Amino acid sequence: MTSCVSMAAAGGYVSVAALSSHILRIRIGPAPLKPRSSWAVVMEDRPQVAVAVSETPQEMMLATDGLRVTVRRQDLHLTIARADGAPVLEDALPGAEFPPGGGTALTKRLQADTRLYGLGQRMGFLDKRGETVTMWATDDPLHHPGRDALYQAIPFVLALQPGGAYGIFLDSPAFTQFDLGKTQSDRLRIQTAESELDYYVIVADSPKGVLNGYSELTGRTPLPPRWSLGYQQCRWSYYPEERVREVAREFRSRQIPCDVIYLDIDHMDGYRVFTWDQGRFPDPAQLVADLRAQGFRVVTIVDPGVKADPAYSVFQEGLAGRHFMTTPDGEVYIGKVWPGPAAFPDFLQESTRRWWGRQHAQLLHLGVAGIWNDMNEPANFTDASVTGQFKGTVPGTLLQGEAECKQPHALVHNLYGLAMASATTAALQELRPKERPFLVTRSGYAGIQRYAAVWMGDNHSWWEHLLQAVPMCLGMGLSGVPFVGTDCGGFSGDATAELLVRWTQLGAFTPFFRNHSAAGTRSQEPWAFGPETEALVADAIRLRYRFLPYLYTLFAEARRTGLPVMRPLLLEYPDDERTHNLSDQFLLGEDLLVAPVYQPGAVTRMVYLPRGEWVDYWTGALYPGGQYTVADAPLHRIPLFVRQGAILPLGPVVQHTGEPAKSLTFDIFGSGAGHVYEDDGASMDYLAGDWSITRVTSRVEAGRTLVTVQPPEGKYRPVRSEVLLRLRNHRAPAAVTADGHPLSWRLEGNDLVVAVAVLDGTEQLLVEISGR
Ligand code: GLC
Repeated sequence: MTSCVSMAAAGGYVSVAALSSHILRIRIGPAPLKPRSSWAVVMEDRPQVAVAVSETPQEMMLATDGLRVTVRRQDLHLTIARADGAPVLEDALPGAEFPPGGGTALTKRLQADTRLYGLGQRMGFLDKRGETVTMWATDDPLHHPGRDALYQAIPFVLALQPGGAYGIFLDSPAFTQFDLGKTQSDRLRIQTAESELDYYVIVADSPKGVLNGYSELTGRTPLPPRWSLGYQQCRWSYYPEERVREVAREFRSRQIPCDVIYLDIDHMDGYRVFTWDQGRFPDPAQLVADLRAQGFRVVTIVDPGVKADPAYSVFQEGLAGRHFMTTPDGEVYIGKVWPGPAAFPDFLQESTRRWWGRQHAQLLHLGVAGIWNDMNEPANFTDASVTGQFKGTVPGTLLQGEAECKQPHALVHNLYGLAMASATTAALQELRPKERPFLVTRSGYAGIQRYAAVWMGDNHSWWEHLLQAVPMCLGMGLSGVPFVGTDCGGFSGDATAELLVRWTQLGAFTPFFRNHSAAGTRSQEPWAFGPETEALVADAIRLRYRFLPYLYTLFAEARRTGLPVMRPLLLEYPDDERTHNLSDQFLLGEDLLVAPVYQPGAVTRMVYLPRGEWVDYWTGALYPGGQYTVADAPLHRIPLFVRQGAILPLGPVVQHTGEPAKSLTFDIFGSGAGHVYEDDGASMDYLAGDWSITRVTSRVEAGRTLVTVQPPEGKYRPVRSEVLLRLRNHRAPAAVTADGHPLSWRLEGNDLVVAVAVLDGTEQLLVEISGR
């Protein structure tokens, strides 16, 4: 059995392989195709997929259970249809073009109503149809609507069209452009600087199905340490150590929850990576230990640029080990970043990745909990003589890769952040094998989700960027990367009190939740704007901790399915056209609709409620879906709606995730179902089955409500003293019983709260609430 057809024709050489019944790999080149390794793809190239291959003098055909592919011999023109013959995707031109100036291109037909999403980190709204977008990792200090390439380059487009969805992933880390129907409205043209095409087509019934396939192809995010889902405080930079201690003290004395404090570049000795400024931080181990005792983790920044200082050991080792990128003449290239003249490690060399990884030992030895990779596009402060794509980065002529297969940087540029992240994460795993690694990165390529959380880089303290945070994070989710967030409060420029409140309210529902600001800007810690603002910011942070069990359950789902945590409505309601470019509200999982306020002075905002019924989280009011509604949004409140039928697992407010969460509450919205995923939140034991899922269902009948709590699946048993059922919008009952025995209950506002036994047995618990 073979899962592949290959042939040569006038148009070049082609091979089509089926990786599964719905995932195809297509390679086309002007010369015979040689084996090619990928940094993005983790799915095996040749699984045993049942395929039928046939041929005629004109065509070659490959069929799987789900798809039929036809390649025209004459020009390698390719057609993909479903097994029933329904067309999915067809070339508009020959299978590939090889322009005389180099590079390759492919052109597909676009149906009139196809929407195009994903494509990594992008400015603007969700649907990119009609635009041209560039894949080129770029350090850009000013994100504006016309801005094309940013830090993350993910050459994956997700297409939604009537009757289904498909994705195209071009596995090329070189300069690549997607013309998404701009030049010709019915054509999608993808052009890369590489000399051959290596792309994947994923066909599914829905965008969720495509993401499922794409994440099978490029990998999924492992469970992060639970502390990394807490609130994180950063600034460029907190120093000296007394300032760091002061920030920590403020959080605890003001009872504002926080899990992480970051050390930006000023903790280093003259920006020499892996060093400490002895004056500012005389005893980092003691500092980290003291913060740890207060429940804080410390994350330090690690930039790739190594100061070209002959007296500096990392530079010396890098030279001796040939770890730096060189010019074609073999000279180590010296660029310029924060430390001034700097050399750039070549992370495409395995020995370099291992060497770099080992440098982290001393950071971990000091107790540092996680790493922040920045400037890894890589950023380089080029002078005015450099224009075009190499402005702000290293020259394309530098050589990278193993000795026997060096390539010009130009062809592998977009891999820099990914390869650095892979080196860092591997080191964290090796140095602390029992703990989950935590890395947050600025740059990345397809597959970055396997190694790191991603933040959206240097935004501004502008309302426009608060609004932009939503589609930007959603687009990353549609590109396979679930663990995303923005600098809350904005990085450059000065935040205002109101902006900080609104941004923190949004950040509380983004997977990565960190407040960060640039040197020289106004401070934006939660208390920076006085007591009234502090109370509102603190409330938003507390809300985050309430929702942690739900959020963590969504991360477990993301690991299993590849679906994002933060979802555009189109993902859940692809047949509802009104969701197709809805870019200013989102769903956390399936059940919680979040509508951030992104205008100053606004006290209401328009919210689209998709089909079904939706409950205002704050008031309990029930709204029919399929309509727009004006939601109340006073400054202390971010509009939140819960799908009627949902059961959300919520936790108590704690000061940090290391504090035991003594209670778990299931918030019950009418008849429905929900579950919570739990494990120790820190170790790798979940991979060996040490986890649990507890499922709850509820049924509202005439005169009574029945709630069933299933015995937990899996081995893990959390330590807690209380499990509560909160029935939203429930009047005082006549009786509440569990398996016939009376249970105590209380009314809280419009909700009925029932305390049930802590569940660790093997029996299900049936709670009957009668007399509604
Ligand atoms: C870059 C990063 C920013 C960081 C700064 C100093 O601009 O994006 O987050 O604070 O460098 O390290």
